[in-house]
Amino acid sequence: MKYIYIKTWGCQMNEYDSSMIVKYLEKTGQYLITKNSEKADVLVLNTCSIREKAQEKVFHQLGRWKKLKNKNANIIIAVGGCVATQEGKEIFKRAKYVDIIFGTQSLHKLPKMIDEVEKNRKFVIDISFPKLDKFNNSLTITNKGYTASISIMEGCNKYCSFCVVPYTRGQEISRPSDDVLFEIASLAENGIKEINLLGQNVNAYQGPTFDGKICYFSELLRLISEIDGIERIRFTTSNPLEFSDDIIEVYKDTPKLVSFLHLPVQSGSNKILQLMKRSYTTEEYEKIIEKLIKARPNIQISSDFIVGFPGESKKDFKETINFIKKINFDMSYSFIYSSRPGTPASEMKDEINIKEKKERLYILQDCINKQTMSWSRKMLGSKQCVLVEGTSKKNAMELYGKTENNRIVNFHGSPKMIGKFVNVQINEIHTHVLHGKLL
Ligand code: SAH
Ligand code: F3S
Repeated sequence: MKYIYIKTWGCQMNEYDSSMIVKYLEKTGQYLITKNSEKADVLVLNTCSIREKAQEKVFHQLGRWKKLKNKNANIIIAVGGCVATQEGKEIFKRAKYVDIIFGTQSLHKLPKMIDEVEKNRKFVIDISFPKLDKFNNSLTITNKGYTASISIMEGCNKYCSFCVVPYTRGQEISRPSDDVLFEIASLAENGIKEINLLGQNVNAYQGPTFDGKICYFSELLRLISEIDGIERIRFTTSNPLEFSDDIIEVYKDTPKLVSFLHLPVQSGSNKILQLMKRSYTTEEYEKIIEKLIKARPNIQISSDFIVGFPGESKKDFKETINFIKKINFDMSYSFIYSSRPGTPASEMKDEINIKEKKERLYILQDCINKQTMSWSRKMLGSKQCVLVEGTSKKNAMELYGKTENNRIVNFHGSPKMIGKFVNVQINEIHTHVLHGKLL
């Protein structure tokens, strides 16, 4: 048996890919996963290149692994994910001790690539985008917990001017709907209660069906809601561009779909949205939210924002803040714009200094944090349905679980409740963690 150590950075899709890598390797019967990098025969780094810092981290990590390889030359180092796909051979140039470079679509080839390096002791690289190959080789993931994430589509055709995803993950490709439904049904049989559908643009899902038709996202959601045992459905990430009325309709009649939606807007200025090539206006985004509230009055919205995009004036930034106040987001992920090689925005003149960018980020985050707190305050005294995930890390006498809107709630209860839905009344609030009383 050989030991494999995997380190994963980046989005949930990368987390999912890493769990697939583990499955592919375990299936060969030759590998065991270890949590100790010092013990490993093969070191795998699943990388992220969405922002500059994420990319630099890769080479720092490889530098650390080089020391392990200096002690034991037989160690194989494999680099996968978005940096691998984007940089390709350049990684070998900067880190000569790397043995394998595999792309986001070549996970299933990793066991063979390792064999090849063991035999020939020569670099191996595969960063190709063979259509459908990845999903054809997909294995069913059976999570031990009570929630599971499953990939329903990959890639992105939107080419927002700042983003590397279309280059690192390739064109949008949807997994056949029957495969998705079959996998979720078997997850439900294994005790999974909550399902999180993953993809770069899940609402662009167009999965082929067994009889040659197309299953759209709204239909997929309805079909999943009919699977016995699945009580909660989430998805991430969706794009305002294709958030069509048929998807909004699902919120009306499918209670298993959570009253919480992550819908990244990026900016509240139409000028900036256009420069970002987001293909929607703030007015259109607002309209979607209005319709969603009509369909599901208690829905909460979270978002992503980029500050300091090239050309973002003080006035544009002010418009973003005003927009945030108008929508009243539950929470957000916000970032300082990071120029990514090969993207159209990297050619744009970036004249905002870093101090100003940091200030804008601070102001934006402060504004959203206040909204998060006010949403939490509204939850005080309310009854919340919580999926119990385990005993609280801080207090072994307490359990913790998650509400529909992703708040962690701690409360007294019996360990028998783990894995079940229970109702609690919120009696204490902090920004992200709440305390409750079992009802
Ligand atoms: N598909 C999603 C985005 C996925 S990338 C969407 O449609 O919005 C996740 C987030 O990273 C983006 O929403 C964006 O806020 C941020 N991001 C992507 N590229 C970035 C860059 N070059 N600089 C800063 N933030 C970036
Ligand atoms: Fe990136 Fe825009 Fe697609 S942010 S993932 S190119 S929708």
